Amino acid sequence: MRGKANQLKSPLDKNGILRVNNLRQLLLLLSLLGPLLLSCAAPETQGSATAPAAAAVPATSNTPAPTTEPIIDYRERFIPVVARHGMVVGPEELAAEVGAQILRQGGNAVDAAVATGFALAVTYPRAGNLGGGGFMLIHLAGDNRQTLIDYRETAPAAASRDMFLDAQGNLDHNLEYFSLQAAGVPGTVAGLLYALDTYGTLTREQVLAPAIALAKEGFPVSFALSFEINASAERLRQNPAATRLFFKPDGSAFEIGDTWRQPDLAWTLRQISDKGADGFYQGEVAERITTEMATNGGLIKAQDLAAYRVVERAPVRGTYRGFEIVSTPPPSSGGVHILQILNVLEGYDLQPMGHNSAAYLHHLTESMKLAYADRSLYLGDPDFVEVPVDRLIDKGYAQRQRARIDSERATPAAEIAPGRPLGDESTETTHYSVADRFGNVVSNTYTLNFSFGSHIAVPGTGMLLNNEMADFATSPGNANAFGLVQGEANKIEAGKRPLSSMSPTIVFRDGKPWLATGSPGGSVIITTVLQMALNAMEFNMNVATAAAEPRIHHQWMPDTLQMESGFSPDTVRLLQAMGHPVNISGRTTGRTNSIMLRDGWLFGASDSRRPGGWVAGY
Ligand code: DON
Repeated sequence: MRGKANQLKSPLDKNGILRVNNLRQLLLLLSLLGPLLLSCAAPETQGSATAPAAAAVPATSNTPAPTTEPIIDYRERFIPVVARHGMVVGPEELAAEVGAQILRQGGNAVDAAVATGFALAVTYPRAGNLGGGGFMLIHLAGDNRQTLIDYRETAPAAASRDMFLDAQGNLDHNLEYFSLQAAGVPGTVAGLLYALDTYGTLTREQVLAPAIALAKEGFPVSFALSFEINASAERLRQNPAATRLFFKPDGSAFEIGDTWRQPDLAWTLRQISDKGADGFYQGEVAERITTEMATNGGLIKAQDLAAYRVVERAPVRGTYRGFEIVSTPPPSSGGVHILQILNVLEGYDLQPMGHNSAAYLHHLTESMKLAYADRSLYLGDPDFVEVPVDRLIDKGYAQRQRARIDSERATPAAEIAPGRPLGDESTETTHYSVADRFGNVVSNTYTLNFSFGSHIAVPGTGMLLNNEMADFATSPGNANAFGLVQGEANKIEAGKRPLSSMSPTIVFRDGKPWLATGSPGGSVIITTVLQMALNAMEFNMNVATAAAEPRIHHQWMPDTLQMESGFSPDTVRLLQAMGHPVNISGRTTGRTNSIMLRDGWLFGASDSRRPGGWVAGY
């Protein structure tokens, strides 16, 4: 396999940077390198669970000394993929391999994260995007500091508090979710390019080349892609531009293995590659967006696009039994509530209760309810409302909150605080994690909100629009479709960012990055990332086991304890006896893509809850 890889016409330019000029070259490269990487990444050990020999992977100047510490515990039922130098864990194979290839060529984790982000816009259209937004958390090894790039969408200038209400004051869900008005001003292109310019080492052209090649030359439709398009086909077909994008000229669906080309998206990516953010927020791409908006009742105007700004923010940080947790600040609620819940749980002796025992799940649930109650009242865009972050993540506050928890009985949600909860959120977004050989780590979550966003494509761009405006409190003071009432802190205002749950997170141990994780799932993102971190920190699970264990979710309102399949019926009965309104709906909770860094090795796990996830490492 190595020999064959060496026979490839080199895709590297004179600077050692990846140049993929056509599909054949890309696929050949990936097909040859993929198995090689995996064979390097996960060497067999003989019975005893010890570290792979250092000789199994190529040496670099940054290679840590070989360790004799056990790195894989054969008592665990789920084993991560292992690599030495660099890793990308994401929801889709081709895009993860693009990122890993950038790492192999000497790019850093930010270069790889940006290349992966653009590639996912091509290969994973349900959530990878140019027309959405997100948050990128970066650990910079050289400076030993962390920073958060907020590229969340913003409300257009013409947006207003009651824009989704009809004459009777009722929420119009079609307008809120599936119209041009549902779209916030996209932040992804600005965010990825800001990250690259500020913390990357490669050029725009270098990191965009693989995405352009994938869009232009096409790639084989995978089982997962076919499944996802078919699951949303009915609504995608309601939009002519989306129909042209996702279906064959005769209107039929692509089959698994068919080559899917996206020439319009290749053109858009080329504009970005040639002109940077101006190639998207001004010029012809911007004109195509604003023409569509003006023609079909959308609100985004040229000034909105030109005015879009990325915000670099300080992450939120806290501690849990000696670990440091660094996560996403407002306008995401994620980091604040993960820290709040951990602070409350730190006061209990959890290990003796047993992982996923009724006692453990009870304390977890009650802590979640308290945090989500606060979410509905306090959280919003910090550039518009004052969010009391320090107070919410204060250990003393957690101690007072703990006193409100009955260790034997579930407290009904209505007794925790009279209702101002937020509405349900959709469950389609994507997260990927990246680690490089220099010690940099990136944890990135971005989204169109729903799977395929508003299901509306902008003609001539190959790009779907988000429906992120639905993340605002779209009917403040009134019950929404789910019987819930939403808070004013998150009301729609021109230029404001809607409240998010996205929680790219990095956990540190002894001052070093130890776990990079994150998840899609709307409001379940917070509880998913929380349980991922707790499984690793509190219960010493490896990253694959921590991801695989069944999860719960409670968001205060509705007063329902959602449980995935996989819990013992005895546990469920004990929780019900404590007063928990359990719902085993069959829905899974979140989808993590995580890297654990230990003993100089990288351990990756892509959640088994969805098809197509991929760990690419070397
Ligand atoms: O920002 C948020 O929290 C939501 N728009 C995310 C939506 C989501 O995660 C759907 N994902 N699977």
